[in-house]
Amino acid sequence: MITVHTIEELRQHVRQAREQGRRIGFVPTMGNLHDGHIRLVDHAKADDCFTVASIFVNPLQFNDASDLERYPRTLTADQKRLEAAATDLLFAPDVDEMYPHGQAQQSRVHVPGVSAGLCGGSRPGHFDGVATVVTKLFNMVQPDRAYFGEKDFQQVAVIRKMVDDLNMPITIVPVATARADDGLALSSRNGYLSPEERAIAPGLYRTLQHVLSRLQAHTPLAQALAEANEQLQQLGFIPDYVAVCHAHNVQSVQSGDTVKDLVILAAAHLGNARLIDNIHVTLNQRIE
Ligand code: PAJ
Repeated sequence: MITVHTIEELRQHVRQAREQGRRIGFVPTMGNLHDGHIRLVDHAKADDCFTVASIFVNPLQFNDASDLERYPRTLTADQKRLEAAATDLLFAPDVDEMYPHGQAQQSRVHVPGVSAGLCGGSRPGHFDGVATVVTKLFNMVQPDRAYFGEKDFQQVAVIRKMVDDLNMPITIVPVATARADDGLALSSRNGYLSPEERAIAPGLYRTLQHVLSRLQAHTPLAQALAEANEQLQQLGFIPDYVAVCHAHNVQSVQSGDTVKDLVILAAAHLGNARLIDNIHVTLNQRIE
């Protein structure tokens, strides 16, 4: 695996791969890599792509300065993991390479609608920062396919809409969430949990499963959501949101709606970490 830090070197290597007739698969990340990230690389490799990963902790998408500052930066360990997964090229730019004119002067991409609620509601500006950096990375790498984890379900929806609205010739490939054996979705932010909190953390996924089983049992939506919030609080979480949405547009399901492709999403604080998770299921029924 080759690591490059500049856009010029990146373009040069991607051009060579194209000249050799390779399709380009792209896995954008912020580093501190775990098996969830590597799963994205595995998918790109399985699609026979020349696989480019990026590591860039994007200041534009952090609405909290201390969150940005403490975000783990582990480049050497990340390089080893990517190398072991047979990644072809790693792009690891610094902030000046990505935002040479400063962040305030940076043109922004705003994806309306789908970016508004849920994480967009509690993290103002977050999805503009994501859409902007992903657009820049797409223009730098010019991939045929780009791989995103369903763990960040709303993010995938934002990127899909952006690619569609702006006619970007890129196939977005969603990849299922990688979980620890106890159900906790793998996340760089799990590292902020104390051992006690880590033991509680799988309760977030269990709560989502509880909501699903209550809906399947035709429990009224409002009651299922109230139970979920209560369960999270009892476990020691501070819930941010629990929501039941139509998967295709991530808009809230209303009682009386007939659903098909459903996603149940939650975000909650536990100690110093803000955890998110979701369950995406086919459920053909009327929601009470
Ligand atoms: P990051 O949080 O590093 O995640 C990079 C990619 O890995 C995202 O597509 C994310 O959904 C995926 N991922 C994270 N945990 C996962 C898990 N447990 N299972 C499957 N996939 C998982 O998401 C970002 O970075 C940034 O917003 C980025 C898109 C790179 C833009 O800065």
